[in-house]
Amino acid sequence: MDDRFREAMTKGYALDEPHLVIGSPLLGDELQPDVRVRVGLAMMNRHGLIAGATGTGKTKTLQILAGQLSDAGVPVFVADIKGDLTGIAAPGRTDDAKLNDRVASLGWDYRPHGHPVEFLSLSGALGAQVRATVHSFGPLLLGKVLDLNETQTAVLSLVFKYCDDHNLPLLDLADLRTTLAWLVSDEGKDQMAECGGIATATAGVILRSIVTLEQEGADVFFGEPEFDVDDLMRLDPQGRGIVSVLELRDVMDKPRLFSTFMLWLLAELYEALPEAGDLPKPKRASSSTRRTCCSTTRQTRCSTRWNGRPA
Ligand SMILES: Nc1ncnc2c1ncn2[C@@H]1O[C@H](COP(=O)(O)OP(=O)(O)OP(=O)(O)O)[C@@H](O)[C@H]1O
Ligand SMILES: [Mg+2]
Repeated sequence: MDDRFREAMTKGYALDEPHLVIGSPLLGDELQPDVRVRVGLAMMNRHGLIAGATGTGKTKTLQILAGQLSDAGVPVFVADIKGDLTGIAAPGRTDDAKLNDRVASLGWDYRPHGHPVEFLSLSGALGAQVRATVHSFGPLLLGKVLDLNETQTAVLSLVFKYCDDHNLPLLDLADLRTTLAWLVSDEGKDQMAECGGIATATAGVILRSIVTLEQEGADVFFGEPEFDVDDLMRLDPQGRGIVSVLELRDVMDKPRLFSTFMLWLLAELYEALPEAGDLPKPKRASSSTRRTCCSTTRQTRCSTRWNGRPA
């Protein structure tokens, strides 16, 4: 082994702070088992990329990161496109000769254990059904999802405002479709008269976008009960972070459904999690922080999204 390589690795990865261990360095085919590659917990809320050819260990690396974060008391959310992260729930095997050789060569203290996992699903087939209401999307975000232009989004805002003013719940896409169709019908068009009315052509474009979104599988996603992002911040009774695994293998061919959910989730998280600066480890937002934060930010969100009263 090249001494300079060993020295550089030892020095580079010597961390006093809490950290995760992701392996040992390799130079060519030669392993350096007495040096560990460490990542500080404080760095785990930064961006990262795990890349490699097929079969090189990307999924395993992701499982190792998620598992160690959970052990350190940090809740984790992972989107599982291929369904191969699920193994993180069960302990690793101890009867696999190849694995045992590998563990021995690494000088690894191998004590396999499962991690607390909650499976979530956008179709409801592979885990707890995740849903959000049309109302919580608001017209701006929904306009993006529906690929609407400025004029069409403005019409969507009017529909939201109308429902808000008249206490009409907008829960799923059918609610939105029915309301919009009624507001341009002979019976309903007077309701919008003071705003200049809704052009039938514009309503037609929006309705067609809604139908397309429904056909792409999003109709099961919109509705009640709405997913509470606080559920992503839980610890188990032993203080380990719950790993929330969003199972996506049955909706891989419905990218719009997945991107709709991610847009909504990011918007919710952005509002729910206060900016905390550099912390020694990723922090679980306490329920009390979240509640205070939600009650103050919901108002801003709803007034910008709805131009109306807060929810
Ligand atoms: N550090 C490691 N040491 C030894 N074996 C490993 C290591 N990481 C992964 N493996 C083994 O290599 C195989 C492939 O790993 P993994 O599934 O993580 O690869 P991948 O990069 O995700 O592949 P794909 O691109 O096909 O999804 C698995 O059998 C796994 O057990
Ligand atoms: Mg993989």
